[in-house]
Amino acid sequence: MYSCSRALKGLRLSGCRARWSSTTASTQPKADPFKLISPQLAEVRSSLLSMLGSGHPALAEIANYYFLHPSKQVRPVIVLLLSQATNGLGSNWQQKLWEAEREGAGGRASELDLPLSRPDVLNDWNPNMPGKTSTFSDVKFMLQPPTQHRPPVPTFNETLSAFPPSLHHSILPTQRRLAQIVEMLHTASLLHDDVIDESALRRGAPSAPAAYGNKLAVLGGNFVLGRASAALARLGDPEVTELIASVISNLVEGEILQTKDVKLDTAGDVSGQRRQDAWNIYLHKTYLKTASLMAKGARSAVVLGGCKDGDVWKEMAYAYGRNIGIAFQLVDDVLDYEHASATLGKPGGADLQLGLTTGPALYAWEEYPEMGELIERKFEKAGDVENARDIVLRSSGVQRTRELAQAYSDKAKEVLQVLPDSEAKSALEALTERVIGRRS
Ligand code: FPP
Ligand code: MG
Repeated sequence: MYSCSRALKGLRLSGCRARWSSTTASTQPKADPFKLISPQLAEVRSSLLSMLGSGHPALAEIANYYFLHPSKQVRPVIVLLLSQATNGLGSNWQQKLWEAEREGAGGRASELDLPLSRPDVLNDWNPNMPGKTSTFSDVKFMLQPPTQHRPPVPTFNETLSAFPPSLHHSILPTQRRLAQIVEMLHTASLLHDDVIDESALRRGAPSAPAAYGNKLAVLGGNFVLGRASAALARLGDPEVTELIASVISNLVEGEILQTKDVKLDTAGDVSGQRRQDAWNIYLHKTYLKTASLMAKGARSAVVLGGCKDGDVWKEMAYAYGRNIGIAFQLVDDVLDYEHASATLGKPGGADLQLGLTTGPALYAWEEYPEMGELIERKFEKAGDVENARDIVLRSSGVQRTRELAQAYSDKAKEVLQVLPDSEAKSALEALTERVIGRRS
């Protein structure tokens, strides 16, 4: 019989029903991740809104819409805290610090809004940044030589790199910009997701498609993506550009993988092979749809802090983001059933209604073989959704999915142990617990 041990294999943890203990059973109170960086988070949010201005007010309105009711901001928090917990440790830190301080080196906050191309070519009108963008009004620009719009680039003095690594407890402007970019990507994906899922509500308010229609929601998502991509280019780091661009493909791949059919074995799934395949697809989809942005955003943060290949911090950051991201989505999938259970008698289990099989249903399938057929036909027949929901709630599927999430969360905490002690490290640990304990 298939059990969660396979899903846990990659975590090098054994025993399906083990009680997952915290890897750092510290009695010290942990720093509150959101409080520790609340000024930086507030700044990330306010300056993000100015990046989304457009000469087309309707577009600006929809692009801003989901930022008016802010998300939990987990992704920016991961980027900011990992930056703070690792800055000063990377081989290239002195250069990154110098770039953040030296005019023209490209790392100062004011320089991150400067276009790389001449603004009249870019034609990227943003009324919130009139000095840095240009409208399509000047027909003569072809005949004019390009004006100097960026300061000359200074040269970094390599001898500065000789400083021994030590924690700097700071966050660079490029890392704050990255926090904005990951939040923009997340928001762009939600604008599209709410069209696909036909969601009526988001964060207690009408969803963007409900408020503005599907076309504007899709176009608004593309616009946010465009602005995020330009900001990404201005970070001036090809590795970070590659990482974040690949997240966009991952999000789309995850969404497609989510719709993949689950087929039963002709022999009635005696071998459990189909369940195993379904688990693999589910966990892969979970990485693509949710964990990839956290993992690659985390890795990008430490790259911007001067970590090079061979610096353990890059691998640590990626592993932290990947594990906490999978835990986050598993809890999301559990909450869908816990909300359904709280509203029994009314329609519940939004995932089932969308035809989606998540962790709790996959575990329930082990205990109730009749679940297989419902999964295979994506809960399409009348009564399937209610039937599947009841099976899940009678099974140990919800509890076991929580245990699996706990295992991923513990792994995220464990990889942090290579870091020197700091408040940011403590807050990152606390975040792994928050993700498990969240109720919405
Ligand atoms: C929310 O999932 C959706 C995602 C995490 C990703 C959606 C990705 C796309 C639609 C691909 C397009 C991507 C871009 C960048 C434009 P959910 O439906 O499980 O959660 P919900 O309950 O919050 O809607
Ligand atoms: Mg959705």
